Amino acid sequence: MSISQQAFLRDAMRRMNLTRDVFASRIGVKRRALDTWLLPEGSQEYRAMPEVVERFVSEITQNTALLEKYTQSGQSGALRDRISVEGRPQLLSVDQFTREAAEDLFRIADMMQPIARRQKVSRVLEGAVLGNLFFEASTRTRVSFGAAFCRLGGSVCDTTGFTFSSMAKGESIYDTSRVLSGYVDAMVIRHPEQGSVAEFARATNIPVVNGGDGPGEHPSQALLDLYTILTEFSRLGKLLDGAHIAMVGDLKYGRTVHSLIKLMAAYRGIKFTLISPKGLEMPSYIIEQASRNDNVIVSTNSMSEGLRGADVIYATRVQKERFANEEQEGYTPDFQINRAMIDAHCGPDTIVMHPLPRDSRPDANDLSIDLNHDPRLAIFRQTDNGIPIRMAIFAVLLGVESLVQHSMRDVTWQHPSHVGPDDSSFHGLD
Ligand code: NCD
Repeated sequence: MSISQQAFLRDAMRRMNLTRDVFASRIGVKRRALDTWLLPEGSQEYRAMPEVVERFVSEITQNTALLEKYTQSGQSGALRDRISVEGRPQLLSVDQFTREAAEDLFRIADMMQPIARRQKVSRVLEGAVLGNLFFEASTRTRVSFGAAFCRLGGSVCDTTGFTFSSMAKGESIYDTSRVLSGYVDAMVIRHPEQGSVAEFARATNIPVVNGGDGPGEHPSQALLDLYTILTEFSRLGKLLDGAHIAMVGDLKYGRTVHSLIKLMAAYRGIKFTLISPKGLEMPSYIIEQASRNDNVIVSTNSMSEGLRGADVIYATRVQKERFANEEQEGYTPDFQINRAMIDAHCGPDTIVMHPLPRDSRPDANDLSIDLNHDPRLAIFRQTDNGIPIRMAIFAVLLGVESLVQHSMRDVTWQHPSHVGPDDSSFHGLD
């Protein structure tokens, strides 16, 4: 098999749109056996699947009517071309993605996992240089884009903040973009104004990725969030179609939720509950865009009402830095998501996400640290997924995804089996 057993099986389940339980019974194996085949290679309980199963699954994925339907939906050709913006390989908005295109990207991210987990190295982007241009605060987005590019063999040039850039001298976005295009092979840009990254992108032919444009969009974050949800659901035996997703917090200025709800609306029958303090509600133009595919969107200011029965709770930070005249009065302590609240309204299979950073100060009313040892808290699985997703984005935009598999070599250095002291086997990192 040219891909890992885990990636092969996940891909088959995703393509057939089946939960682990249904998939196991469809191919006539015990769920427990399937679980051991889905563990990362090298982990203690990992087992190789019998060859006959591999052949059988390959046959199904090549023949089912469902897969035929997918191929008939016009989703053919290189992913780079399918998501391009006016013929250019750029990632500016989740609007560029259909469900099939997102799932194609996730297959590439699955392939990147051995590199992200420090088992393999690749140098497919050797010689390429990334310009990481962050004109707004960032820790994880900037570092993870940089690390993803480096892990594919490229190098990174960084610039942070306006103060140290020529924009402080009045330089236009057009000039900066054109100048940088002569220095680097791809750019990731974060800028405080909505639409600014698209303006950068219009002034260049090299790949541009939107790392967050003010209150606009954050497409790479939404892709890693959706990838995390699908991975967690696969572990829990759930399907995203028909699930209940609760988004909590500053939905007016939070660009991560703007991108995520639009991207998830490509699925069917989802119940989105939008819980925000008065004055920080989701903009209506985004609600309109997400109202398709039999998805239901309910808005409320009540946490207890909104969280009831949620499969995913996606919490966000209050974006005070973007406030114009808004007051923070509505952001009362009952907006703090903590263990007692989740125990009261949700089940043991609920997952709790947050794009981070969370405000951990006691008066912040953000995601509480009392969930840190609770397996439902998926925030670090989510941040870890930033690497394979951003590697996949670069590989697609620079057209090297087909070279990655054969470029992999074993790592030479020692690394811990779990990167976090509280990680366990289902983090998929052992
Ligand atoms: C978010 C952002 O910058 O939009 N963080 C991130 O990129 N993971 C969320 C935030 O700042 O609250």
